Formats: sequence, structure tokens, C-alpha cells
Amino acid sequence: MAAAKKIIIDTDPGQDDAVAILLALASPELDVIGITAVAGNVPLALTQLNARKICELAGRPETKVFSGAFRPMVRPLVTAEEVHGKTGLDGPDLPEPQMPLQAAHAVDFLVETLLAEEAGTVTLCPLGPLTNIALALVREPRLAHRIERIVLMGGGYFEQGNVTPSAEFNIYVDPHAADVVLKSGVPIVMMPLDVTHKALTTSARVKAIRDLGTRVGVAVAEMLQFFERFDEAKYGTDGGPLHDPCVIAYLLKPELFSGRECNVAVELASELTMGTTVVDWWGVTKRPKNALYIRDIDHDGFFALLTERLALL
Ligand code: RIB
Ligand code: CA
Repeated sequence: MAAAKKIIIDTDPGQDDAVAILLALASPELDVIGITAVAGNVPLALTQLNARKICELAGRPETKVFSGAFRPMVRPLVTAEEVHGKTGLDGPDLPEPQMPLQAAHAVDFLVETLLAEEAGTVTLCPLGPLTNIALALVREPRLAHRIERIVLMGGGYFEQGNVTPSAEFNIYVDPHAADVVLKSGVPIVMMPLDVTHKALTTSARVKAIRDLGTRVGVAVAEMLQFFERFDEAKYGTDGGPLHDPCVIAYLLKPELFSGRECNVAVELASELTMGTTVVDWWGVTKRPKNALYIRDIDHDGFFALLTERLALL
């Protein structure tokens, strides 16, 4: 097998972040060289704690977890306890972590690691607001030519928004950070609501995960059953969108996904549409095609991959 792909997961756990982290840690194709926590679904003190709880659930307490930005670059922090619960990881009862939080700041870790590792060998996987990534890019412009790719969950266009009528949560929380990333020149793959809303945690899929009968399988089923209730009530569907694991699944099996190279820009001026991602899907502008914008997924193949890999933990 080829050498494992080095990735850094930037995250605001969050049940769907948790499943993404578990999928990555279960997959030998990936080498998770660090996990950087950011404020988002819940405040930073909880996202860095949850990230460590998840690593221990995976049986990987040696994973390096770093704490990053406690608020967006410009706007005040907006959180989502109504979706994720007051802990951010409601559902299973996971023990307090024994593994340490790394002393270095997440942004320092990102800068130092991306300068130290061979250029083009580290992929960034942001699953929350892009604050840490943007701060690193602003701090050290050389990173833009050293990051292999940014594969992120965020945005929405045909599906519109989930936190406002037009904006998706990760981009809405820190639209200025998203603007820095989208204009950075780093190759970007975007997993927006247009694709994640096609990856629903139906009762049959959650049962298959619970039926693994492992500590991880049961805990993930408990996470999903808590996490999905908000979106099931909102959208009237069987199951809710499983957003963040789409990022990791893309690295493992890109053939499960399809999209188009497009220009993606973000609204920073209007309060009404703040954080909206404007996608030039039909190429009507001359703006640079700065992202592979994913729109479709083989959702059965996605959940088969996820369930198969979770069984390995
Ligand atoms: O809009 C969905 C995104 O916001 C996901 O990353 C979820 O974890 C929340 O951060
Ligand atoms: Ca997230």
C-alpha cells in the first residue's frame, strides 16, 4: 500500500465531527498527524475536550490534539447547542479524557508543521469554522504553496442555508476566515449542504452501525440518534444529514462523489445574506475557479464505507 496520506483535521466536535474523526482514525490510508480544535458548534473549551474524548473512544490516545481560536476573526461566536447538546457531544456518556491537550496553540502547530513537512504532503480537513486555517494563512503566507489541498465541509448553494435562509453554519460563523481560505490559492474541495443533505442517517443505517455491537458502534449510534433529531424535525426526513464524514470519505473513496470546478465567493457585507457562498456553477463570471464544488454522492456506498471502517475500531 502507498504511504499513508498525512492529514490535519480542524474541528468543532460536534457529533458529525466525531464520526469523521473516527472514520479517519480507523482508516490505514490516512495518517492523522494532528487534530486542531476550533470554536464552533460549542465553545473551544468543549471542542478541544470532545476531540480528546473521541480519540480515546477510538483507542488512539497518542493522537495530538491542539486548542485553537476561541472565536471567529471578526464576528462574535455563534454556537449550535440546540443541535449538538450542551456538551457538543450529547448522546453517549463518554469518560473525561486522560490524554493531554498539546501545549502549542493550534495555529502554531499548523504553521510549524506545514513549514517542516515536505511541501505538498499535508492535506487539511476543516470540519468547522475556518478561523484556525485563515489565521495560519495570514500568519505565514508561504503555507499557501505548501498545503497539498484543503478538503472542507462548508457552504451551500442549491440547498441554500441551514443557520440562516442562505448561509451554512461553518461559513456563517466565520465568513471572513472563509474569504481568506477561498482567496488563498490553495486547491480546495468543498463538501457543501448540496451533497451532505443527500447523506442521511436513516434508521436502517444507524441500526447497522449499532449492530456492530462494539463500544464505538454503540457510541456512534447514540451520537447520531441525538444529532439527527433536530434535522429530522426540521426537514421531515428519516435521519439527518451526516455532514463532516463526507470530507474523510472523499479522501478514502473520491469516486463516491462528483462535482464541478467553480468560483465560490462569500458574502461579507449584507447582514441579511452574511456568510452565503455564491457559487458560479454555470461559469457566468470570469472569477477564478477556486474550488471543486461537490454536489452528488453515492450515499449507499458512503454508509457502507463508514460502517465497514467503524467496525475496525
Ligand atoms: O453546517 C454543518 C456544519 O456545521 C457541520 O460541520 C457541523 O458539525 C457544524 O459544524
Ligand atoms: Ca463540524
